[in-house]
Amino acid sequence: MAQALPYGRHLIEADDVAAVVEVLTGGHLAQGPKTAQFEAAAAARVGAAHGVACSSGSAALYLALRALDVGPGDICIVPAITFLSTATAARMCGADVLFADVDPITGLLTSETLAEAAARATGPVKAALPVHLGGRMCAMPALAEVAQAHGFVLVEDAAHALGSVRDRKAAGGCAHSAAACFSFHPVKTIACGEGGGGGRLFLRLGQESRRSRRARPAGSAGPGVQGLIFPRYRVAI
Ligand SMILES: Cc1ncc(COP(=O)(O)O)c(C=O)c1O
Repeated sequence: MAQALPYGRHLIEADDVAAVVEVLTGGHLAQGPKTAQFEAAAAARVGAAHGVACSSGSAALYLALRALDVGPGDICIVPAITFLSTATAARMCGADVLFADVDPITGLLTSETLAEAAARATGPVKAALPVHLGGRMCAMPALAEVAQAHGFVLVEDAAHALGSVRDRKAAGGCAHSAAACFSFHPVKTIACGEGGGGGRLFLRLGQESRRSRRARPAGSAGPGVQGLIFPRYRVAI
């Protein structure tokens, strides 16, 4: 009888279980030291200046756009082939989404399709969100040239791309972007907890990383975020 392919299959080993038990018995079930350790280790691995752990890849995309002041009246360019969250992050900020075509073979945003979308924009484009589909990275230097020419920033949707490298630049290093967002949902390269998923946001600038960090616990963590409404996006451990 034909067997359906599983949606995902995790490799959870004894040391993973031991690490979870250590957290559960360690007295910190809300944003404890493991979060800071994970942020630092993951940022070092991809060569990012700052890492902010949050509750999902969707949360990371939203926090990145908020940190970059994307809001009503702005336009975000999103590739036509992606998961919903790339576009909904922009909509949750009140921005309009302008879909860009993708390369028919790779499914990736290209400098040509990005430039074509930017030329179609009827208002200010604040950001474009290239998606490294299935772990295959977009040509970031070429996209960055287009973004620079039009005066907007790039936010990488790197949900599928933990460990991906192109031209010796790792996804998440933010060499050509303001921020890169990963997902640790159970079907991604590595998985972690809270609500079935986990996310990571890597940023180029410290100012934006501080804003994202303060916004993460529902916007309750101090100056710079008062008056703004944020969902609860922190990580449990
Ligand atoms: C391209 C892409 N972006 C963003 C996300 C959102 O990640 P999460 O499920 O961790 O919210 C996903 C999840 O499947 C995705 O495939």
